[in-house]
Amino acid sequence: MIDYASLSERFKALYGGDPRLFRAPGRVNLIGEHTDYNGGFVLPIAIDLEAVVAISPRTDTLVRIHAANFDEDGEFDFSQPFVGTPGHWSNLPEGMARVLQGTGAKLSGADMMIIADVPGGAGLSSSAAVCVAVGLALTEISDAPIDRIELAKAAQQTEHDYAGAKVGIMDQFVSAHAEPGHALLLDCRSLEYDHVPFLLADNVLVICDTNVKHELAASAYNTRRAECEEAVQLLRADQPDITQLRDVSFSDFERSCELLPSPIRSRARHVITENERTLAAAEALKKGDLHRFGQLMFRSHASLRDDYEVSCKELDVLVDAATELGALGSRMTGGGFGGSTVNLLKRSGLDNFCTHISQMYAARTGLQATIIITESRGGASEVGCD
Ligand code: GLA
Repeated sequence: MIDYASLSERFKALYGGDPRLFRAPGRVNLIGEHTDYNGGFVLPIAIDLEAVVAISPRTDTLVRIHAANFDEDGEFDFSQPFVGTPGHWSNLPEGMARVLQGTGAKLSGADMMIIADVPGGAGLSSSAAVCVAVGLALTEISDAPIDRIELAKAAQQTEHDYAGAKVGIMDQFVSAHAEPGHALLLDCRSLEYDHVPFLLADNVLVICDTNVKHELAASAYNTRRAECEEAVQLLRADQPDITQLRDVSFSDFERSCELLPSPIRSRARHVITENERTLAAAEALKKGDLHRFGQLMFRSHASLRDDYEVSCKELDVLVDAATELGALGSRMTGGGFGGSTVNLLKRSGLDNFCTHISQMYAARTGLQATIIITESRGGASEVGCD
């Protein structure tokens, strides 16, 4: 947990003056994977881990940033063009500020200190948390508040323009909108959403981080996106009105799938069935049927592994081990090729699960997993004001 008081003290020691603090959470997606950029449905929750920005305004156009995780400083001036260093941490906060400025927000200069306990590369949206926290902080201290949907869109734009990742809207949206105790069912085309009660009763949600991130991740993500667009182009021969895989029902797909060569056919099948699973999972949650919810998680993993091919050995080892240990549900979460699994299990079996899954993972991969137990938390807010 981040110690807000000590962050304020560190800020005072570096810049002087009392800062305001803003936080934005990471997320774990319960189900609805690789559906967001296809206009489909996702069902994530915000987690305990977060990014926090301590900030105070300046009277000029300079923004000074201290990244507490790296103990490094950066700065930029709103009156000067973006320079940036490819791959450097400062591109995200600066990019977010520049994107917001580009939308017409009148932002003041600022001193800020950023700290995050969302692990990078774990599939838990550390960069979305940083972008949303920075955006909320800068707009609030500049008296230029923006709508939460615009905040999420600006954070997504930042990933596209300043990190080269053509991500969907899920991570930023849930970081900006989540309600504690609820999952967020988001229609990624209309951006309409529903807060679905996430009542665990005598169950618990456990994230297992593989602690690997394969090099392939970024390029494979963009390839999958392109394959989905190709599927839409080909299916339009039969269904001229469709614009995204979201528009294709499973029966339409079955009728027209001969139009799709391999592996485009299986990519499309994943997206179309995952949309159906996500809506079914939200219904199961509403009925408190966690058994059915868990079954849908397992099926989602199988589809991501076999049809979408974004899993990897380490993720499969964790899901297989969770299955052997009697989890109600288990699946990879996030983009894939490493990162984490999300698991639903009986609270009474928690200790046994944690001990054994770590041992099984180590024995089968030679690696250590990190176990994170989480509940569903609220979205971005000013600290002390939520
Ligand atoms: C990453 C992206 C999201 C989403 C997932 C896959 O986390 O940031 O937009 O596409 O992958 O569901």
